[in-house]
Amino acid sequence: MGSPLFHKLSVKFGPRPPISLLLLCLISVLALIVVFGSSSSNSFDSATPSPVPTVVYTNYRKLKEQATVNYLELRSLSLGAGRQEVDLCGKDRENYVPCYNISANFLAGFQNGEEFDRHCEYSKGGQRCLVRPPKDYKIPLRWPAGRDVIWSNNVKITKDQFLASGSMTKRLMLLEENQIAFHSEDGVIFDGVKDYSRQIAEMIGLGTDSEFFQAGVHNVLDIGCGFGSFGAHLLSQKVMAICIAEYEVTGSQVQLALERGLPAMIGNFISRQLPYPTLSFDMVHCAQCGIVWDQKDGMFLLEVDRVLKPGGYFVLTSPTVRPEGHSVNAKKRSISTPVEQFTEKICWTLIAQQDETFIWQKTADGNCYASRNGIPFCKEGQDDLSYYQPLKSCISGATSKRWMPIQNRSSTSQLSSAELEFHGKWVQPEDFYEDSQVWRSALRNYWSLLTPLIFSDHPKRPGDEDPLPPYNMIRNVMDMNAHYGGLNSAFLGESKSVWVMNVVPLKARNTLPLILDQGFAGVLHDWCESFPTYPRTYDMLHANGLLSHLSLERCSLLDLFLEMDRILRPEGWVVISDNLATIETARGLATQIRWEARVIDLENGSDQRLLVCQKPFIKK
Ligand SMILES: *[C@@H]1O[C@H](CO)[C@@H](O)[C@H](O)[C@H]1NC(C)=O
Ligand SMILES: *[C@@H]1O[C@H](CO)[C@@H](O)[C@H](O)[C@H]1NC(C)=O
Ligand SMILES: *[C@@H]1O[C@H](CO)[C@@H](O)[C@H](O)[C@H]1NC(C)=O
Repeated sequence: MGSPLFHKLSVKFGPRPPISLLLLCLISVLALIVVFGSSSSNSFDSATPSPVPTVVYTNYRKLKEQATVNYLELRSLSLGAGRQEVDLCGKDRENYVPCYNISANFLAGFQNGEEFDRHCEYSKGGQRCLVRPPKDYKIPLRWPAGRDVIWSNNVKITKDQFLASGSMTKRLMLLEENQIAFHSEDGVIFDGVKDYSRQIAEMIGLGTDSEFFQAGVHNVLDIGCGFGSFGAHLLSQKVMAICIAEYEVTGSQVQLALERGLPAMIGNFISRQLPYPTLSFDMVHCAQCGIVWDQKDGMFLLEVDRVLKPGGYFVLTSPTVRPEGHSVNAKKRSISTPVEQFTEKICWTLIAQQDETFIWQKTADGNCYASRNGIPFCKEGQDDLSYYQPLKSCISGATSKRWMPIQNRSSTSQLSSAELEFHGKWVQPEDFYEDSQVWRSALRNYWSLLTPLIFSDHPKRPGDEDPLPPYNMIRNVMDMNAHYGGLNSAFLGESKSVWVMNVVPLKARNTLPLILDQGFAGVLHDWCESFPTYPRTYDMLHANGLLSHLSLERCSLLDLFLEMDRILRPEGWVVISDNLATIETARGLATQIRWEARVIDLENGSDQRLLVCQKPFIKK
């Protein structure tokens, strides 16, 4: 699904100075396609420069016959009713997250924490509407200022939650009128996170925390991340930290982290596995994250073991691991908690303990398990696709081809060819390198399109200032069909200040292990369901080939667009690339949900098109 399209893109644009590039694309915008041919009203194509309907329409007719699903969707739109703009939701849905209706889950009989789980089946149906921002919503500050200061009306949090904020990573928060300030890095008030990070580095035998990356710690799963300050610090050390926490109605850790521009998603494993493959993370961190680790016969620890890479670390900061007052040195041999007993069975070694912080290391030696009888291996093949599978009480990944200790990784950010070999099943090295080249030029083209000028009838005149957006115009990016993570690498290569949530659709080729092994954020997801995040959390969504892929499945593209609108910040961008018929459908849907949209013809005779959209900031 990935690379071929972008040959086309690059053929058309080529490397050119930005001014002429922009002009070129504006001139060459091939007529926003009026989706419904002759009887079209002018209500939504006022931005259309002289269209060329005949050609497009004939073409469209032909394609329509091939794509029955698209056709049906188009037809229902063209019947009139469907063309109306979708209504705005009420105030009660300002912070709406589908699949996490706690009261509905409770009514359905879930309890003991499982009511906070994801249950999409109880969120089906209901009103189709556009989630709108709270009354005093403000566009977030740009990175990096936005990491340290956010608008308090943009997130749902109570005064009490500020004051009661307990854990060390939460404490760093102060309220200043309509702003929340997080004193990180240069904070004069607290330096706790920095010290904490250095302490962890020292405990695993490093000189300082700037050595994490070299020591093979490239990505960290931060469970219950407070408000993301530890992760923010790790990012400054080039370590990708992804925050997960369960759904919270107010004071959500995930919502605050994302608002700050830090990688995060709703996730928990009270009854089901996380949507990550086995052997994914170099470190799992929990600072007072609220999990009672010795419950459920150790299944929580087994889930951590599953996602940890060999030689990876589990860092637990909690006053409850050991009864107060027992120092590890004095009592190590005599007092052993259930957690400690269990970790021995799964071949973890307690390598250090200081204050309330414990660090275990997962074995680097797959043969270790044989010597500890007790916990069985999971059946082969089961651990390939972890999409909300039930928690298991067996050991995963021990016989995987991807069993490589993190200490053996290359210390550069590029995957070595040896590491790529590992993914033989998923990718050929040449294919991978070629893909990343293609994406670098595609990204340059995209970036030049991300300006409201693209929607204007009167594009800028020659000699006007270069309109290229600044490097930090966007921060939170989602690649909805990430393939090898090529867009993410391109962003890094171009030194843009973004992070990318790389989503691998459930039915696509499972390239997620490859994405995570590059140290990127990524997750498996079924796009017929809603994404586990709060409203207004992404600045840009990118979907290459996703819509045509999904239209083969039985889910509604309108619902997908409503979901995209929900998770997109006001004034956020959407870039969709697909075949002509699909882009026409998408253009109609974009209009229904009030996005500005423009179709870009790649002008090389192929039927691939680009749809660039911007979500308006609806103040009401
Ligand atoms: C458009 O680009 C694609 C990919 O490079 C290429 O295969 C195709 O032949 C091109 N079409 C034309 C008409 O040049
Ligand atoms: C959540 O579920 C309850 C009970 O089924 C229902 O009344 C309510 O409308 C739902 N809330 C949302 C936002 O869908
Ligand atoms: C990791 O490196 C060690 C030391 O260089 C080596 O003995 C071991 O075989 C390597 N393990 C793997 C799985 O490559």
